[in-house]
Amino acid sequence: MSDIQLRTPVAADGRLGASVEHPGLSDPRYLRRRGAIAAPARSHRVGDPSPPVDYSETEEQTWRIVHQALWTAQREHACRGVLDAREQAAIPADHIPQHAEVASRLRRLTGFDFTLAGGVVENKRFLGSMAEGYFHAVQFVRHSAMPLFTPEPDVIHDVFGHGIHLASPAFADIYRLIGQAAMRVEDEDVLQMISDVYWFTLEYGVLDEGGEPKAYGAALLSSYGEIRRLRRSRIRPLSIRAMLATKYDICGYQPVLFSARCLDEITDTLGGFLEQLDDESAPRFGRTPSASARCGAEEQ
Ligand SMILES: [Fe+2]
Repeated sequence: MSDIQLRTPVAADGRLGASVEHPGLSDPRYLRRRGAIAAPARSHRVGDPSPPVDYSETEEQTWRIVHQALWTAQREHACRGVLDAREQAAIPADHIPQHAEVASRLRRLTGFDFTLAGGVVENKRFLGSMAEGYFHAVQFVRHSAMPLFTPEPDVIHDVFGHGIHLASPAFADIYRLIGQAAMRVEDEDVLQMISDVYWFTLEYGVLDEGGEPKAYGAALLSSYGEIRRLRRSRIRPLSIRAMLATKYDICGYQPVLFSARCLDEITDTLGGFLEQLDDESAPRFGRTPSASARCGAEEQ
């Protein structure tokens, strides 16, 4: 597991990069706090309990502000499957849930658990752990100066995105399919292919509901700015080959989203792709090590 790295900032209003200063980069107290919360991840073994975090009132206030905003935005822009799942997830409005609190509910619903991440997690570990019902999640909170601004995945992203998914047996099955494929292969290019498909589905996927794009991807569900601008993206039909041919930049809002007609289509399409993967698969899909654009680290 590598050290903490920050993504280029993305503001809630869509402004990107250098025009927006990351609110934490110039705040040594924030960086120390963030580093202290993330530090135990360096020696964390998958499946070990995450250490509890004594969140400050400032962090709790940030949670409450974002909870209120996302709860409303999701109601308008998330797909029905997500809205049903979030009822089961029972995300608290008044406090940041500890990993143990999240997991106690997820275990009962789908058998999943959060396992500790401090930032970047390499593909084999991150994706492969899903086969065993573990999702790598961080515990630190975004900077309080801009509560609706997310420069990187934080505990709000993980709970409001992946935590909701993993309260749903149907979504949990997709995570497991991805994990099982990742466990079967060692080739880095193939693992990156899985990661790229994960990106365009479980992070940035949308569903068509009555002609309207509705979000199911965790990154969309946890971004107050991005979930409200789905119509501004170029929305293409679900296609693994198209996903693998689409370069993306983790540093900003996604200009291209892939839309499915229903959750079963996602499961069937991903399942068909994943089950055929082996360590020789990359050339068959025309993949090279530099097929996807990267500008920094991604916790995923
Ligand atoms: Fe994520």
